Amino acid sequence: MSFTVAIDGPAAAGKGTISKAIAFDFGFAHLDTGLLYRAVGALVAEGKDPILAARELKPSDLERGGLRTMGAGQAASRVAAIPEVRAALVDFQRSFARKEGGAVLDGRDIGTVICPQAEVKLFVTASPEVRAHRRWLEVGGDEAEVLAQVKERDRRDSDRATAPLIPADDATIIDTSFMSIDDAVAKASALIREAIRKMNN
Ligand code: CDP
Repeated sequence: MSFTVAIDGPAAAGKGTISKAIAFDFGFAHLDTGLLYRAVGALVAEGKDPILAARELKPSDLERGGLRTMGAGQAASRVAAIPEVRAALVDFQRSFARKEGGAVLDGRDIGTVICPQAEVKLFVTASPEVRAHRRWLEVGGDEAEVLAQVKERDRRDSDRATAPLIPADDATIIDTSFMSIDDAVAKASALIREAIRKMNN
């Protein structure tokens, strides 16, 4: 049986943490799709052509160091605006989504483009200030600079022509600005249990 949970949202909204918790609790496979774009961005920084880098991406490219830095996030959002880069990564994500036993994918366009038929769609968000504060706790440095980078990436991800960051019409919005991670996971879990119950009826 396949069962797909699509979790989209802007940087540092909590989608990664929620996705990992859901995957663990329900025994689903998890794909952090941002890592695909981060890896392409890193290959481009080494001089590779972005479209070729996406077409030839290997599992080992996702394990390289330094993919979680703010700089890698910016590089990712630049290559993510190239339609051919996105197109090259579609099949891999779709086949992951249909894995036997269920899958959770987190990203920006999972519910809108990659898996519009996902059984559960969540859009996890929070105010830019709250998200920047969370990212700053992880990466350190100057918090105002982290906020500026978060806003710049939000703008680039939301304004691009191909697969912009927007909630699917039928996505449930979870605003984590004033919500603990446990409460957000509980809300997501309840929606998933409900969808499984409906599917089995
Ligand atoms: O962890 P964080 O939310 O900061 O970023 P990420 O999910 O690793 O994504 C890094 C960048 O990749 C984003 O800013 C997007 O530009 C791009 N991305 C995308 O376009 N589509 C996805 N499905 C996932 C990420």
